[in-house]
Amino acid sequence: MMAEMDEHPSRWETPTDAVSISVIGCGYLGAVHAAAMAALGHDVVGLDVDAAKIAELAAGQAPFFEPGLTEILAEGARTGQLRFTTDLGSVAAAQVHFICVGTPQRRGENSADLRHVDAAFHQLLPQLKPGDVVVGKSTVPVGTAERLAELLRSVEPTATLVWNPEFLREGHAVKDTLSPDRLVYGVPEGPAGERAVTVLNRVYAKAVANGVPVVVTDYATAQLVKVAANSFLATKISFINAMAELCEVTGGDVVQLADAIGYDARIGRRFLNAGLGFGGGCLPKDIRAFMARAGELGVDQALTFLREVDAINLRRRVRMVDLAREVCEGSIVGRRIAVLGAAFKPDSDDVRDSPALSVAAQMTLQGAEVVVTDPEAIANASAKWPDLVFAETVDEAVQDAELVLLLTEWPEYVALDPHELRTRVARPRMLDGRNALDAARWRAAGWTYRALGRR
Ligand code: UGA
Repeated sequence: MMAEMDEHPSRWETPTDAVSISVIGCGYLGAVHAAAMAALGHDVVGLDVDAAKIAELAAGQAPFFEPGLTEILAEGARTGQLRFTTDLGSVAAAQVHFICVGTPQRRGENSADLRHVDAAFHQLLPQLKPGDVVVGKSTVPVGTAERLAELLRSVEPTATLVWNPEFLREGHAVKDTLSPDRLVYGVPEGPAGERAVTVLNRVYAKAVANGVPVVVTDYATAQLVKVAANSFLATKISFINAMAELCEVTGGDVVQLADAIGYDARIGRRFLNAGLGFGGGCLPKDIRAFMARAGELGVDQALTFLREVDAINLRRRVRMVDLAREVCEGSIVGRRIAVLGAAFKPDSDDVRDSPALSVAAQMTLQGAEVVVTDPEAIANASAKWPDLVFAETVDEAVQDAELVLLLTEWPEYVALDPHELRTRVARPRMLDGRNALDAARWRAAGWTYRALGRR
């Protein structure tokens, strides 16, 4: 390992522990990663093809809502350790290059679209120097890293590719990046891989010193860990939502059921919140891309269960609309319905595959007069769903409403006072799509309270 490191000694024997880093792709993952790496003391340049986004980031503004991000962007700008640019040439000074571009679902298919990963990689290749480390963070179908490593070898044989998946959650992205649960490094066998581990341990020195587990493995495992983790989380959510379906026909209570099974430490209570199910830019597309990849590898049966996970998840949205119709005595046509929440989850302004907007859109299409509100996501939601009606505040949204649906459990919605809200609506009827409200409290305040999977 030392022999390999000594080939380029001056580049790694810097007086401080700071590493010179480039981050290619400054979307959700990349912007947070770049700012967090600068917060850890590294010199970071973030690169993106979107000039407007780069201008915002360079001005210290977060292009999306993420608690804590503005603060570390400002700090990075102040110390001069964080820069953003559209100029590809500026990545040439960096020693470690993180690929953080998106891998969305292909239109009309289940598989992942790798266009951005391939483009980023091809643009990076001519900028690389001997000994550089390229780190893939994007979520990719297994086999991608092996293909890119081959390409890298053919252009710059002394550079090394590492696959280092990211597990950050939106809404907790800064904390998750600065102090992750675990680090996974997929590296090639031999001295190049050992050297890459040393380099990444320096990048993540604080987390490593704090005892964060580091799993050093091969490319295949590193890529699979990411999709396996998201598939497990999606399965856990759909499992409890399947139990909700059973509770609905038997008179059971899915919240008590989740509490009771969750006391078993082998099961655990986290990610067993029944309701409208999962959305966002990750879990839905990742389980579909995983199924597609398994099919290509000839082991589609191994992941057939994920089809059910997806189907259970999507059925919850339909069930929510049915419940609204049931509570409105059989028809929602012409009914004023308030929807609280547009983001796919609280503490985010992300509306990609938002269950809340999906329900709002279905009810609107079926003739209801729906008004949607959200503390952070209205701009994104109205850009994506221009036909929906939006209100800035809860008061405006619920004005004259005959039914209120809580579809994203923002803390301010969970904290709403049922007595106060009752004075604003036409009919006090609440559908809790996230099992987030205290049913007894709302009923005591005179509301008809219904929720998915509960009596
Ligand atoms: C998810 C994973 O949790 C992260 O570990 C991963 O890094 C990320 O995807 C990614 O691949 O980039 P995220 O999409 O931010 O993170 O959101 P989650 O917190 O996982 O929530 C996903 C959805 O599940 C939300 O719509 C949420 O409302 C729903 N959910 C979550 C439930 O319906 N029930 C639960 O018990 C938990």
